[in-house]
Amino acid sequence: MTNTADLGAEALRDHVAAQLTRARERSALLTDAVDDDDLVRQHSKLMSPLVWDLAHIGNQEELWLVRDVGGREPVRRDIDELYDAFQHPRAARPTLPLLGPGEARSYVREVRDKVLDVLERTPLEGRRLLDRAFAFGMIVQHEQQHDETMLATHQLRTGAPVLHAPDPPKPVVAHRVDEVIVPGGRFTMGTSAEPWALDNERPAHAVEVPPFAIESVPVTCGRYLEFVEGGGYDDRRWWSDGGWAFRVEANLVAPRFWDKHGQTWTRRRFGVVEEIPHDEPVVHVSFHEADAFARWAGKRLPTEAEWEKAARHDPDGDRSRRFPWGDEDPEPRHANLGQRHLRPAPVGAYPDGASPLGVHQLIGDVWEWTATDFYGYPGFQAFPYREYSEVFFGPEYKVLRGGSFGTDPAACRGTFRNWDYPIRRQIFAGFRLARDVRSGEVR
Ligand SMILES: [Fe+2]
Repeated sequence: MTNTADLGAEALRDHVAAQLTRARERSALLTDAVDDDDLVRQHSKLMSPLVWDLAHIGNQEELWLVRDVGGREPVRRDIDELYDAFQHPRAARPTLPLLGPGEARSYVREVRDKVLDVLERTPLEGRRLLDRAFAFGMIVQHEQQHDETMLATHQLRTGAPVLHAPDPPKPVVAHRVDEVIVPGGRFTMGTSAEPWALDNERPAHAVEVPPFAIESVPVTCGRYLEFVEGGGYDDRRWWSDGGWAFRVEANLVAPRFWDKHGQTWTRRRFGVVEEIPHDEPVVHVSFHEADAFARWAGKRLPTEAEWEKAARHDPDGDRSRRFPWGDEDPEPRHANLGQRHLRPAPVGAYPDGASPLGVHQLIGDVWEWTATDFYGYPGFQAFPYREYSEVFFGPEYKVLRGGSFGTDPAACRGTFRNWDYPIRRQIFAGFRLARDVRSGEVR
């Protein structure tokens, strides 16, 4: 990823085209990995059939880039309604008269050909939607976000493994979990400068954050196992009222995809059953489980402002960094992003991605649940449409930060905000712990 703010007009067009191509290669990988039966099947009520995601990607691209930006004739106006995520809940999508796999593939190809032509001919200025190619960036991110959703569908599907990737790096020395104290004071949260930042990340605004302690790495499977084995799921004390109700109703006993064989806990990961890796961040836990674990551990989840301050605070100045390691776009050495690996990396595997205060793996590996409900920042303005985020504002959704191994760098920033229901477990979510500081701990 290049910071699009620095590119000239031609370089910006090349950058957009390369990002569009990269996203499409990933969509193709995820949909070509299975046969047609598998593409149209619903692997879980929580997810769409993969073929719905594919045509929906093309339909959003058509709506914004072919029709709106390009001012061209519709390619398939007749299918708009089928692929409007607000018209049909995921559970109902398999019953719709969807495009079949072959039709969906040729539809997205036809749309993309027109879009590349629109990109060549459209001046990237004059409208806010075109400023720094924002509309194209939005569509790149949309496709990458659906690719992560499709990756979650792959994790839910049963059967032999169809996706393969090398394991992520291991730390040179085993990482010891410690805490970092982040000093109190104002910092700048959100952004008004990132060209492709989405509406809910804007505007930049000052936030006063009291001093807090945050753990240097996300909570690992090994530590989470102590909670499981120690009866954490059966002890009402650790759970909020809503969390306990969910725990009982869904009969939770461990993270999703975990299973116990005799005395050994295993997990299923993209069709492979394996022993629980103790040194990897735990993944596939709901907000409620994260919250219960935190209470059991005598700590709490960080607020969203604390998380972003840990990720962006520059101790040597009063500006906020783009990423924990600085302003440089994510490289493979910084973070486990972009589906290069099909699992989180062991803690301590990315020392080059740590913050100046020594907080590791804030970006990549697992989305991190925060304690904060999803709302707009002060001065929020919906752009370019209310349905991107404003319609989700409210106490039903919790904010997640940092991206996972399945998040592409194009859809991951120090300011990027994700949100979901506190009961969701199929997403690639884990968490890290924070706490208030005691008097005398801060200089
Ligand atoms: Fe979408």
